Amino acid sequence: MNDPKIIVALDVPTSRQALALARRLDPALCRIKVGKELFTSAGPKLVERLGEQGYQVFLDLKFHDIPNTVAQACKAAAQLGVWMLNVHALGGRKMMMAAREALGGTWPRPRLIAVTLLTSLGQDDLHDLGIHGKPADVVLRLAARAHDCGLDGVVCSAQEARALRERFGKGFWLVTPGIRPQEAALDDQTRVATPRTALANGADYLVIGRPITRAPDPRKALEDISREIA
Ligand code: C5P
Repeated sequence: MNDPKIIVALDVPTSRQALALARRLDPALCRIKVGKELFTSAGPKLVERLGEQGYQVFLDLKFHDIPNTVAQACKAAAQLGVWMLNVHALGGRKMMMAAREALGGTWPRPRLIAVTLLTSLGQDDLHDLGIHGKPADVVLRLAARAHDCGLDGVVCSAQEARALRERFGKGFWLVTPGIRPQEAALDDQTRVATPRTALANGADYLVIGRPITRAPDPRKALEDISREIA
């Protein structure tokens, strides 16, 4: 089966813009990530429309609530036919297990991954929140909880990928944002990796937004990166 490694983050505000952009890309070369802004404005219909264009969708809504609510939200996402969705590992073991169980009976079962620590949180924020340890250790601890709960993987930076791959082995998906081809602008990302470095560090899938969506020719940018990692 065709398994493109690139997930294009469709960070645009409207359904119209999203579908126009998707038409300029290629489902043989990428999947699509729909996040909170776009989903809140465009709704489930957009996920269906992207499916009709041949795309598999990563629904990036980072569920974090009581176990029952998250389980029902995951079921609803599965009914939309999404390929992958995510929850916050900080929602805890019971929440993650409820999410995993809720997807158990669905076919095809969407992949369920966890967000560990938001990369916007630094050491001072952890201290302020009463969370002990260095960010890297907290990431490892939360990823271990996700792994214990039977989740399929985690979102992580390319820098964290190597340690996570060593700890959890193959089969635990590492999905990495913060990807920039060598010549691309950093935008607001700081700790970036090239597509090849991220894959070499153990990433399974690369979330790439602006280097593709804001390129003069998004299709060409997607093709160039696909060729670079082929
Ligand atoms: O445009 P860019 O390639 O920076 O987009 C990256 C995407 O990955 C965005 O949708 C962003 O919200 C998401 N993301 C991230 N860093 C994280 C988690 C998610 O950049 N730690």
